[in-house]
Amino acid sequence: MVPGYLLAQDLAAAVLAAAVPPPSTILIAGCGTGSEILAIAKALPDARITGVDPSPGMIAAARRRIDDAGLSGRVRLETATVDALDDRPDHDACMISLVLQFIADDGDKSAFLSGIRRRLRPDAKLVLIDPAAEQGLAPAYGAWLAANGLDAEGVLAVLNRTAHQWHCVSPERLAALLYQSGFGPPETFFTALAYRGVVANAC
Ligand SMILES: C[S@@+](CC[C@H](N)C(=O)[O-])C[C@H]1O[C@@H](n2cnc3c(N)ncnc32)[C@H](O)[C@@H]1O
Repeated sequence: MVPGYLLAQDLAAAVLAAAVPPPSTILIAGCGTGSEILAIAKALPDARITGVDPSPGMIAAARRRIDDAGLSGRVRLETATVDALDDRPDHDACMISLVLQFIADDGDKSAFLSGIRRRLRPDAKLVLIDPAAEQGLAPAYGAWLAANGLDAEGVLAVLNRTAHQWHCVSPERLAALLYQSGFGPPETFFTALAYRGVVANAC
């Protein structure tokens, strides 16, 4: 459970709607079951959207939701990583929601971001929702999880995963990774406990 998840998706879609003129082509890296595709398709009715995810199960679930929403005509889904897409700068924006924490900061994060940058036009927008590395708010996050129905064991598992298994980065490190990968300084549009949403321009 991510505090403010639906609000974060809606705000990200609003950020894109305000910044990207229609008709636009939007890349979703790690689209999971398609939640951000649905939010973006609603906010940008002329957008064509490509969602990629390496998990066949996630793509199958996303496809069902996209079909049910009547969006299959303007949404393309691929069981793949971004690297499998044509290496051409033909997207106006990219959204990465809750994916970067699964990628190690040993060169892989910047390779992932650089691969996305190569598929964006100059001045395109990158919208990112990411858990932060800072642990000061972990007790509050635990209390929020418990208040939202997770049992004690579940709370411990989530806090342990966040602190020790994910590859979370500080805001400064995220800004440095974005800079190395060809993006300008990130601007924050959302924070909730240790989650944040930022938007950056492709340089
Ligand atoms: C927590 S889910 C988030 C899904 C969706 N973006 C959302 O916000 O609801 C993380 C997703 O990232 C995908 N993923 C993991 N590594 C990836 C990579 N290198 N490239 C693209 N997607 C990746 C996983 O398969 C999973 O579907």
